[in-house]
This record gives sequence, structure tokens and C-alpha cells, in this order.
Amino acid sequence: MTTINDATQAFLAAPPGLLIDGESIPALSGETFESVDPSTEEVIAHLQRARAEDVDAAVRSARRAFEPGSAWRRMTPADRGRVIHRIGDLILENADELAMLEAIDSGKVLSVARSSDVVLTANMFHYMAGWATKTEGHTMPFTMSSPDEYVAYTRSEPVGVVAGIIPWNFPLVMASWKIGPALATGCTIVLKPAEQTPLSALRLGQLVVEAGVPAGVVNILTGYGHEAGAALAAHPGVDKIAFTGSTEVGRLIVGAAVGNLKRVSLELGGKSPNIVFDDADLDIAIPGAAQAIFFHQGQCCNAGSRLFVHRKVYDEVIEGVAEIARGFQVGPVLDPESTMGPLISSEQLERVCGYVRSGQDEGATALTGGNRPQGKGYFLEPTVLADTTGDMKVVREEIFGPVVVAIPFEDPDELVRQANDTPFGLAAGVFTRDLNRAHRTAQLIQAGTVWVNTYGAFDAAIPFGGFKQSGWGREMGREVLDHYIETKSVVIRLS
Ligand code: NAI
Ligand code: MG
Repeated sequence: MTTINDATQAFLAAPPGLLIDGESIPALSGETFESVDPSTEEVIAHLQRARAEDVDAAVRSARRAFEPGSAWRRMTPADRGRVIHRIGDLILENADELAMLEAIDSGKVLSVARSSDVVLTANMFHYMAGWATKTEGHTMPFTMSSPDEYVAYTRSEPVGVVAGIIPWNFPLVMASWKIGPALATGCTIVLKPAEQTPLSALRLGQLVVEAGVPAGVVNILTGYGHEAGAALAAHPGVDKIAFTGSTEVGRLIVGAAVGNLKRVSLELGGKSPNIVFDDADLDIAIPGAAQAIFFHQGQCCNAGSRLFVHRKVYDEVIEGVAEIARGFQVGPVLDPESTMGPLISSEQLERVCGYVRSGQDEGATALTGGNRPQGKGYFLEPTVLADTTGDMKVVREEIFGPVVVAIPFEDPDELVRQANDTPFGLAAGVFTRDLNRAHRTAQLIQAGTVWVNTYGAFDAAIPFGGFKQSGWGREMGREVLDHYIETKSVVIRLS
């Protein structure tokens, strides 16, 4: 077992409080809540439990930091870019500690947290640093008068105070997806990490301060969704909400935003199709299909959870995926032998086991998995369900666990109809050697991202988000900036 070093032990024993106005402070009520290590079911830290009054203090702090003339508003774009870049550097300098916090708080295998989550988080800040100097307006002709009568141009201005509400599956990465664009555009932010995984955001908050971000620009509130989250979403001092989480809470966010008509971006659930054609290179497609569903125990909004395989290669592909599933070493995240960690909580484990049972009750066959290993921890064996049909609950609903449903197909048109027969539209995978087929299928699938001959390849430069009920707007890339910017048109009449 990898041991938790003294610095991290000290952090867990006395974690930072709420980050408000650059200070670490207790919740006004004095109440705390517990965070649990899902590998051991043990409490690893006690966190401040923010409620409405703390939300109010954080939003007021963010508003003050956004006032004209504040240190943040006066900072040059070049300096802002340097500070954001410095956050990325500090993340890499503290990579081992961040990976450890992420692993024990969220049930992520330590080596994966180190090589994937921390690296993606740094990448987001380094990429966003560049945009600080590049959010521009443009000039345009006034088309109904002579060219010398008017000068017209646009300015890109920050939208104001942003509320970022994020889930437990990728706590650090999600924090960077909200804080990165907020800083790049000159906004201020109040971030609420998920109650299951508050630790890495608090450490990130310290690094943000260390990097030189002025007090009040980034505020972090640990607490529950129905308390801190709901109060933040409804607060009249918030101009924009960036939410990632369940579709159900996404709807509540939209309702809460109605009062002052906040701008809202949403990144919600999915039931993404992963399609293997009969001409695919199966040495790529089989591990690709396994990775698409089993990465982080399937607790990914973009998980390739519906595996469509051409009839000709169906048996070979699903047996190959099942073989990989059987090969996972399911165990505690600090055991270097483990290649798959636990689910986030006992609730999530119950939910996912319920889906496996429901699939079997409706006639699906588990080629492998479906069982809980003995002992502590919210572990579940990776599961492949075959003989599924389009009307089954396991095929229609997001499971958010290591459970893939396999569906054979023959006719490409019927395949596209089935792949799109879902309220979601987040992502898709296509495995084929035929260039025509790859492009054609990428055009026809209703999804915000289509991966071809790979799955789950993320980069800060590439926009990500959903069609249909998978959300509103895009994260990352230049597209995310639109949600954090107000365009102001200035029209000048020359005399
Ligand atoms: P959730 O949507 O309740 O939690 C996401 C965030 O929203 C957390 O920070 C939570 O504290 C906050 N929140 C909860 N209720 C709120 C409210 N009324 N107002 C404002 N903020 C609120 O997700 P949960 O309950 O942890 O997971 C339930 C299911 O949601 C999962 O089983 C999975 O299917 C799905 N999910 C999808 C995610 C995605 O990335 N698409 C991420 C997490 C969960
Ligand atoms: Mg936890």
C-alpha cells in the first residue's frame, strides 16, 4: 500500500475552511460534515458545512472583487495570463499531493489520478492562460449609412460573478473547467465542490491564492447540494451558473436561475453509444470499448455505456471486452496492484447494483461481473450485459457505474436510429477502418463529441458538452469563453 505522507496527513487532520475573500474561515454555524474514503469507508476529514449565510458572504466577496477599480479589474490581461499559468505550474509542482487527495477522497486509482486528472487540470489552466490576452471584440460596418458616419465595435466583457457547482467524479478537473475560463475572462467565482469530494478543491484554492490571484476572486464553499448548492444557484448576486452533474439537478438549477435570469451552462448525463463496425481493427476497438466504459468505474458522464457491435464481430468483441473486465484488479486506490477502484458511495453502489439486477430481471445475461467483492469499500466487479434490447431500463437510463450493455447491429441506418434513440447526446465512439463510414457516422450521431478509433481523449483546446438533454453550452476550447463573456456593442456617430 502506498502510504499517505506527513504533509497530506496534516492537511486531512486540519483541512482548510471555506475560502472567502482570500481567507480560510469556518462556517458561520460552526457545523462540519464528513468526507469518506470509498476504498475503506473511513472518515478521512471534517469539512466546514456552508449554508445560505456563508453563500451570501462568499457571493459578496466575489462581487467586491469584481467592482470596477478592484485589484482584479485593474490587473493587465498579460498579468492575468501569467497568474493563471502559474496555477497550472503549481498544480504540476504539487502533483503527487493533489493525486493522493483525489484518490482517497473520490476512489480514483492513485496512478490514474496522477497521470490523468492532475495532468488534465494543469492543461486546462495552461491553455486558459493564453485566452486572458486574446478575448477580443471586432469592428463592423454600419450597413445603413455611409462608411464614414459611424464607428462601431464590440468589447468582450466578463459576465461578472460566476457560481460553479461540480460533481464528485472528476473533482479537480471539474474545478479547473469552471475556474479556468472564469479567470481567463476576468470574472470572479464561487465554487462549490461535491460534498463527497471536497478535498482537492480546497488544496487548489490554496494554490490559486499562492499563484497571486487577488482575494475574493476565487471563493470555495464546501457543503451540501440542497443547502450551499441551492442557495448559491438562487442567489441574486450571481450572474452566471456553470453546473456539471445529474440531469435531475440540472433542471433544479434552471429553475433557481429564473429569479434574476442568470446565464446558465449545464453539462449533464449521458448514455453514449460506442459503435464497432465489422471492418474495425479489433486490437484497437476491444480495449477501446473496455476503456470507454470502465475508466473510473464507469462514473463518467461520457462513458461509452451502450456498445453497438456489428453482428459479424459481435461475439469476438463482447468476449474480448468481458476478458478485459475479468482482468481488472478491483481494490483499494492506494494498492499499487489495483487497476479499478470503488464507486463513490454506498448509495451509488446500491443504485448500480439495482440496475444490474433490473437488467437480469428483464432478460439480459451478465457475461461477467455484477458481484460485490467481500469486505470494506464500495467495490463492484466490472460488468458486461449481453442480450439487451432497446426497451430495457439498463439500455435507456444512465447507470453511472462499470456496466456496459451490448447490442448487435447489421443495418447501418437502423444503427444510427438506435444510437440516437436516447434523450441524451453527450458523446459517441466509432471504430472503423473506413474513412467514409467514420465521417458519415460522425455526422449522423447526435452528440457533442464523437471519438473515432479512440474514446475519452480530452484536451483543454477541444470543446466538450451535450446535445439534447445532456446540457447547454460547451466546456473548454474557445467555445467555453462565450458563456463567461458579455458582448458590448459601442456605436459612435462622428460629427
Ligand atoms: P448531483 O447532480 O446531485 O450533484 C452534483 C452537484 O450538484 C454537487 O455539487 C451537489 O452538491 C450539487 N447539488 C445537488 N443538489 C443541488 C441543488 N438542489 N441545487 C444546487 N446544487 C445541488 O449528483 P449526485 O446526486 O451526486 O449523483 C446522482 C447521479 O447523477 C449519479 O448517479 C449519476 O447518474 C449522475 N451524475 C452525473 C454526473 C455527470 O458528470 N454527468 C456527475 C455526477 C452525477
Ligand atoms: Mg470522499
